[in-house]
Amino acid sequence: MASDPLRTKLCDMLGIEFPVIAFTHCKDVAVSVINSGGFAVLGEAMHTPDDIASDIKWIRDRIDGKPFGIDLVLPASVPPADSLEQLEAKIPETHRGFAQEIKEKYNVPDPKGAIDLHTWGGLNQQMARAQLEVLLDERVPVIASGLGNPGFFLETAHERGIKVFGLVGKARQAKRQLDAGVDAVIAQGYDAAGHTGAVGTFSIVPEIAAMAGDTPIIAAGGVTTGRHLAAALCLGASGVWSGTLWLASRESDIDMIIKERLLASTVEDTSYGKSISGMTMRVLTCPWTKEWAKPEAPHALPPPYQMLLSANYIQGANDNRREDLMTEAAGQGVGFVTSMKPARQILFDLVEEALAAFEERVGELA
Ligand SMILES: Cc1cc2nc3c(=O)[nH]c(=O)nc-3n(C[C@H](O)[C@H](O)[C@H](O)COP(=O)(O)O)c2cc1C
Repeated sequence: MASDPLRTKLCDMLGIEFPVIAFTHCKDVAVSVINSGGFAVLGEAMHTPDDIASDIKWIRDRIDGKPFGIDLVLPASVPPADSLEQLEAKIPETHRGFAQEIKEKYNVPDPKGAIDLHTWGGLNQQMARAQLEVLLDERVPVIASGLGNPGFFLETAHERGIKVFGLVGKARQAKRQLDAGVDAVIAQGYDAAGHTGAVGTFSIVPEIAAMAGDTPIIAAGGVTTGRHLAAALCLGASGVWSGTLWLASRESDIDMIIKERLLASTVEDTSYGKSISGMTMRVLTCPWTKEWAKPEAPHALPPPYQMLLSANYIQGANDNRREDLMTEAAGQGVGFVTSMKPARQILFDLVEEALAAFEERVGELA
């Protein structure tokens, strides 16, 4: 066995000790993972350009020059620059009516303030471009595109010394991004939290690794234990990218109600469908996902319109801490998330378990 099976080309590219990338919306989680030898990518798709700039500064002040990443969504299929009012005006009456029925049936309260999703970069291209400008100006070490091909800004990014990662759910998307020259591809399988495709992690990772040449492939979707990390490396990945794993960490700033739900959830408590955003997405099952899954429900609207409908439900549930209504993106690996540990401990446990898994196999072979 290699002296350190966890030392990969991704570690060399990023100058990190462990081939583990935490995707998180929480700055404290990101800083903890970065300062413990892993890598973190902060999701900023729902933030204004000013907030993104100040979050970048906040992180930089705490990681002593180490690298980090920022994730945006850059879907090409959404309108170029429509205002919120213009977008909302395009939602059909049938869909408004169905959302209203859910609101009345479950007594869903109104949001208390501004709706977070109204600054989501996935609503219109202008919004996403303004967010991207900040990342390019700030020369963040890594920009990750969670949705959409990052090819159009690769040259500018590379000129500024920025590495670009693209997250994909299909081999043909990976091929396009590899041809464009991305620095790494995150091959994400069906198990994953959030927007995800229909191909399983076990199928998509080796398929994309086989076409990637020297470009590192990062496995995502269901990675919640060290055995997953070890398996991902054996499938040809140079690292893992995980989201669900960090959600219930001590540092994570999500509502304690959600943390407790995550800790109690099993693989059967997540749902996969288009009811949240119009794109296939995995979240904790809630009344909204159940109602839209019924045969009599209208088909979900295409992005970004379905997101505008669900945003009122989600924010109303969150602002009023309605445990019976709340939801969050969560992957099928949620069943392995059973205690609320510090992010640093989660990382170290992952590494230790992966090494033990390698040792176990080598021991058996010997
Ligand atoms: C709460 C939550 C929010 C997420 N939001 C985003 C996002 O804004 N952009 C993105 O590219 N991925 C997002 N993801 C998906 C993650 O980047 C990652 O691909 C996914 O969590 C991997 O699957 P896993 O949860 O099984 O580890 C989110 C995941 C979670 C858990």
